[in-house]
Amino acid sequence: MLAIRLVTDPAERDPLVLPVRPAGDAQEHPELVAVARPPAAELADEATALLSMARLTGEAGETHLTLRPGRAPSRLVLLGVGDGGDGDWRRAGAALARATAHETCITLLMPVDVTSEALGALAEGLWLASYRFRMPPTAQRPADGDDEADGPAEVVLVVADPQQHEGALERARITAETTRLARDLTNMPSSVKCPQWFVERIRPEAERAGLTVTVREPGQLAAEGFGGILAVGGGSARGPRLLELSWAPENATTHVVLVGKGITFDTGGISIKPREAMVLMRKDMAGAAAVVAATLGAAAMKLPVRITTLAPLAENMVSGTAFRPGDVVRHYGGITSETTNSDAEGRLVLADALAYAVSELGPDLVVDLATLTGANAVALGKHTGALYSDDDTLAAGFLAAVDAAGERAWRLPLPADYVPYLRSDIADLYSAPLQGAGSVTAALFLREFLGDLRDRWLHVDMSAPSWAYGDQHELVSGATGWGVRSLLRWLPDLA
Ligand code: BES
Ligand code: MN
Ligand code: ZN
Repeated sequence: MLAIRLVTDPAERDPLVLPVRPAGDAQEHPELVAVARPPAAELADEATALLSMARLTGEAGETHLTLRPGRAPSRLVLLGVGDGGDGDWRRAGAALARATAHETCITLLMPVDVTSEALGALAEGLWLASYRFRMPPTAQRPADGDDEADGPAEVVLVVADPQQHEGALERARITAETTRLARDLTNMPSSVKCPQWFVERIRPEAERAGLTVTVREPGQLAAEGFGGILAVGGGSARGPRLLELSWAPENATTHVVLVGKGITFDTGGISIKPREAMVLMRKDMAGAAAVVAATLGAAAMKLPVRITTLAPLAENMVSGTAFRPGDVVRHYGGITSETTNSDAEGRLVLADALAYAVSELGPDLVVDLATLTGANAVALGKHTGALYSDDDTLAAGFLAAVDAAGERAWRLPLPADYVPYLRSDIADLYSAPLQGAGSVTAALFLREFLGDLRDRWLHVDMSAPSWAYGDQHELVSGATGWGVRSLLRWLPDLA
């Protein structure tokens, strides 16, 4: 990750970045933002002239580079920061990382009245937009050097009082680092990534962060009755796992369980997916990646909240040992489901984890994140997750955190009259009801496993926003790490 430093008096000022914003009256040219350490008067005059000559607007994310041969600084960057909301600063940071990707060190003069929140958002934008996924090096393809820079090596932020912003910068660093981890996990091809690989990738990091790590292998899963995880993972030569992380600080009063769907590849199983629909299914563990990464982040922030995180990990394959449509699966705790479609596998592994959480962990709240249905994108498009909860206060609190974090979710209903669609003749539930809205009925299926905690539960179908189909603001083409930022905003509310 690029280095970000807070200073009052920069040694180096080339290239120099000046924030600009729209003038109050939309007809006028934008203006320089008043900064803590103003540039020399001639430079400010020159920059002001450039604002009109270059026809800038000052909107967040606008960048303009001026070359000044033989003068200092030799490069002047004007950076639009819009109205200065946190979202604007995040966009500005992302745009700045891209515009100065080949620089070694850039210096940005920060507004005199900048808030720590805005500074943190700027840092997140810089760190998240300069992310790039790299395959592990091989003999034929050694680790790539800096041939294709993703951002400047160092960003110096000039502020009046660095001390005031250190905490926010540290939180932004943890948030960005863990979001990047979730992206790395999700981008990794399934030729490398299997349930055991995921566990081994996380274990050392989790232990270093002070988390307790418990891993159940197939024998243990069978002994304890995790029938959903075993059914879905049964078709793969690479067996399933249940990864459990625990963060249990002494000062915690609330215990939250986070559950993430961890299908390391989803072929659809015997109800096989059409070829185009299968290509991206290495991302079907983005929910597990997000909850695990957020837990590492919570530990790094030393949040005074008890967190138990469950990642049911399995590969949904087509083989002679795969589970079949029509099979009846017995989930943890005894509820049974009739498999109507082996491609509705995520809810089967989540059901086990949710039932286990409720009966064995005694949580106050349960949250699950899952790339659960294609219907999420049908309903809400490619950028917005579907949030479900029976509790208005819980839902509103979570949505506020999602919004503040710069992610997107929209609440969808859990209508009582769709519940009968779940009833099967030979089991307690159909895994995928034949009627109703796909994302909604998947959520209703999961709710059946919450027992007494159904009002203390949040579910996000994040199939759509888990992936970006191009670079956009702080998102980079590929895995987005959706959910890590939202969770790290929301978890402190529980303290
Ligand atoms: N992993 C998919 C959902 C998905 C689709 C995620 C597209 C991301 C992008 C999930 O396991 C699935 O296949 N769901 C089925 C459910 C259906 C069989 C009831 C779907 O959405 O078609
Ligand atoms: Mn599926
Ligand atoms: Zn799936």
